[in-house]
Amino acid sequence: MKLKDQGVLVTGASKGLGLALSRELASRGARVAMVARHEAPLKQAVRRIRDEGGVAHALVFDVSDKESTYRIAGAAAELVGDIEVLVHNASTLGPVPLRPLIETDCEDFEQVLLTNVLGPFRLTKAILGGMLLRGRGAVIQLSSDAAVEAYPTWGAYSASKAATDHLTRVLAAESPALRFVSIDPGEMDTEMHAAAMPDADRSTLARPADVASKIADILASIDRVPNGARLVASSWSGA
Ligand SMILES: NC(=O)c1ccc[n+]([C@@H]2O[C@H](COP(=O)([O-])OP(=O)(O)OC[C@H]3O[C@@H](n4cnc5c(N)ncnc54)[C@H](OP(=O)(O)O)[C@@H]3O)[C@@H](O)[C@H]2O)c1
Repeated sequence: MKLKDQGVLVTGASKGLGLALSRELASRGARVAMVARHEAPLKQAVRRIRDEGGVAHALVFDVSDKESTYRIAGAAAELVGDIEVLVHNASTLGPVPLRPLIETDCEDFEQVLLTNVLGPFRLTKAILGGMLLRGRGAVIQLSSDAAVEAYPTWGAYSASKAATDHLTRVLAAESPALRFVSIDPGEMDTEMHAAAMPDADRSTLARPADVASKIADILASIDRVPNGARLVASSWSGA
């Protein structure tokens, strides 16, 4: 898939992997609409990309908010044109420190599902119609090894990531003209990781920029990736 001059929408784009991926895609010529809740860090991220010569725009929205869905989709299309690539990267762990599933408040579980599953699903629905009409487009879902491993205390987050992996497979089966892929980025040195595992040795964690480069490579050759696949970024060596 060509990235140059393509409209891309990245959620959770103000820091961590979302920022790194927005920078990487902008450096490859994509026009990037970047979503996050907090305005100041998002605008700073956009400025950084523009200073680097890229095309980027800030969209201050919460992906878990139902009323924001069509506002995000509409504003993104107005700013960067048709959305050819949608990246569901924004995500929440729920309250930290993480707690065993049975001690997890249902309201907290609900918020994790709203942010990680339902909000992205609504946004996919809002964007997919245009992709289907054009007969092309890619939807990338950021997954986690927690989607397949049963780590104590990671229950709500794990269930949300397993759900989105499976939504990816079903969407691929239903719309074979488009591309749907889940990507496990691996453990990265980000604020989310620090919140979940504050004692981790940061030198063992991947740099978001390196993972972002892999994801951009996956996107560039996504036409050759099996539709609905669940990929592990660190194992990617080309399609
Ligand atoms: N870090 C890891 O080791 C790791 C491992 C496996 C998978 N992942 C996955 O990789 C992805 C990126 O993780 P990360 O570590 O880079 O996260 P991060 O550092 O916590 O960054 C999260 C980004 O998402 C935004 N965000 C959070 N909630 C949002 C909401 N409701 N609406 C819109 N934006 C929202 C945040 O900005 P605001 O707070 O301003 O909204 C921020 O820009 C996630 O899907 C995560 O589950 C991460």
